[in-house]
This record gives sequence, structure tokens and C-alpha cells, in this order.
Amino acid sequence: MQWWYGHNAVGFFLTAGFLGMMYYFIPKAAGRPVYSYRLSIVHFWTLIFLYIWAGPHHLHWTALPDWTQTVGMAFSIMLWMPSWGGMINGIMTLSGAWDKLRTDPGLRFSVTAVGFYGMSTFEGPVMSVREVNALSHYTDWTIGHVHSGALGWVAFIVFGSFYYLIPVLWNRKALYSVRLVAWHYWIATLGIVLYIVSMWVAGIMEGLMWRAYDKFGFLQYSFVESVVAIHPFFVIRLLGGVFFLIGGLMMVFNVFMTITSESTERPREPLIAPAVLAGA
Ligand code: HEM
Ligand code: HEM
Repeated sequence: MQWWYGHNAVGFFLTAGFLGMMYYFIPKAAGRPVYSYRLSIVHFWTLIFLYIWAGPHHLHWTALPDWTQTVGMAFSIMLWMPSWGGMINGIMTLSGAWDKLRTDPGLRFSVTAVGFYGMSTFEGPVMSVREVNALSHYTDWTIGHVHSGALGWVAFIVFGSFYYLIPVLWNRKALYSVRLVAWHYWIATLGIVLYIVSMWVAGIMEGLMWRAYDKFGFLQYSFVESVVAIHPFFVIRLLGGVFFLIGGLMMVFNVFMTITSESTERPREPLIAPAVLAGA
């Protein structure tokens, strides 16, 4: 029962609102309409329909009835399709505006976020296959999957939206420093890559060590041995997290300077249209 809510938390708390940001801010920043409005509607309703059946993939190989696990697995695999439909919709919105990626690092965040959305919604269905899950469950592979969604998708789409929104909200002509946004982008991307790659390696290593038997049929490794083996990868994850944090602090500084600097204020748009003022 709890995982019924648990997976919906992933599907709706960590996905739906952020898809809202994708569908609003990417067209705004790119100056292009959404690639396919119809596809966005299909995306929405298929997510609503499919996500609520996927919860049992968190409970493979448990006391949960077998058929329930199979249903969870089947719906998780089906989820791949609307997720990638949505990803394609987000990325194709840039058609005709790809050059903006060179000059607008904020938009780069949003587009990379959509890429990570595609990546984590591909990895998820793979992990939901019972045989794969037998290896990945309880290991750091899951944690890597969580953060390719949480950092690559959720945090990046938020950063992209912030960089678009802050100058608009505070009526500034531009951000304090576009170059700092580019630095934030690269350091955060590097941080995520270190984080998730180290967790893949650690996770698969743990999974393989836990299922290794010696010639007498005893477990080959104790749990502590597996913890010692993955220690170097925890250090790499720490480094990735520190990079990500430094990028976040750069953003805070940039936003603070944008809000407080007087000189970059853009001329306020008249509240009443000029034509009305002229008595037309
Ligand atoms: C098609 C979409 C997705 C599918 C089918 C899927 C599938 C899975 C599977 C099979 C697991 C491992 C369960 C286990 O062994 O315990 C998992 C864990 C998890 N996934 Fe996904 N995933 C998807 C997308 C996402 C996205 C986009 C995010 C985040 C933004 C996310 C966040 C998580 C979290 C937080 C967990 C760990 C839950 C826990 O604490 O055990 N997933 N997912
Ligand atoms: C620099 C950024 C971050 C770092 C270093 C970090 C680190 C961690 C660590 C060490 C864990 C415990 C994993 C374990 O059990 O071994 C964790 C779990 C988790 N984090 Fe993060 N985190 C970060 C950002 C985020 C963000 C932005 C989100 C959500 C948007 C998030 C969502 C989660 C979730 C859902 C779990 C539980 C996963 C599970 O138990 O299956 N994290 N994180």
C-alpha cells in the first residue's frame, strides 16, 4: 500500500510539476511554441494512467503476489514510451532555435535536464525488469538512478527556470553574469556525472559480491567486505556532490548580485499601451 503512494511520489512529486516547468520555460526561453501540443496532452494522460500501476517494481522478490510484480514490471516498461514522447517534445521545441544554446547557458540547463529525464526514464524501466532488479535492488545503483533524476532532471530544470525568471521578476535587463551561469553548468554537470557513474560501479559491484558463492556453497563475501570495496566510489560521489554544491553557491551569488545591482535595471514597460496614451 505504501509503495502505491511511494512510486506516485516519484511520478508526480518529482516529475509532473517539473514537466510543467519544461513545457512553460523552454518555449519561453527559446522563443518557440511547444513542438506538439497534442503530444503534451497524450504525455500527460498516459503518465497519469501508467504511473499508478508501477509501484510494485519497488517490491520485486518480496511476499507481494507474483502477478502484482508482473503487472508493475509491465506498466513500468510501458512508461518508457510516454516519457520519451515527452522528452522528444521538449527537445524538438528547440528546432529553429538551437543556436540559442550557445548564447543562453540557462537554456542549456533546461535542455540537459530533458536529456536526464530521458536517461532516468530509460534506466527505470530497465531496473524494473525482475531479473535486473535482482541485481540492482538494495544497492547503490538505485541511488545512482535516484540522483540522475533528482539532480540531472529535477534540479537542472529548476536552475534553467530560475535563470529565466529572476531577471523578469526583478525587472533586470540581464543576469549579473552569464559567464557564471556557464561555469555553474559545467561544474554541476561534471558533479552529476561523477555521482551517477560512481554509483553505477559501486552498485553493480555490491550486487555481484552479495550473490557470489564459494565452492562449498557459502557466501563468498561478508557485507562489510562489500562496504570496504565500494569505499573509493563513495569518495568519488562526495567529490561529485561538492562540485554540485559549488555550482549551487555560484547560482545563489549570481541571483543575489542580479537582484541587488542597480545599474542593469531595464526600462519599465508602460502599464498602459502607448496607443491608448495617444488617445487612439
Ligand atoms: C519510466 C520511469 C521510471 C521507472 C519505470 C522507474 C523505475 C524504478 C525502479 C525499478 C526502481 C528500483 C526499485 C528498487 O529496486 O527498490 C526505482 C527507484 C527509484 N526511482 Fe525510478 N523510475 C522511473 C523514473 C524516475 C524518475 C524520473 C525519478 C526522479 C525524478 C525516479 C526516482 C526514483 C527514486 C527516488 C527511487 C528510489 C526509491 C527508494 O527509495 O527505494 N525514478 N525506479
Ligand atoms: C549535491 C546534491 C546531493 C547529494 C550529495 C545527495 C546525497 C544523497 C545521499 C548520500 C543519499 C543516501 C543514499 C544512500 O542510501 O546511500 C541520498 C538519498 C536521496 N536523495 Fe540525495 N543528494 C543530493 C541531492 C538530492 C536532490 C536535489 C534530491 C531531490 C530532488 C535528492 C533526492 C534523494 C532521494 C529521494 C534519496 C533517497 C534514495 C533512496 O533511499 O532510495 N537528492 N542523497
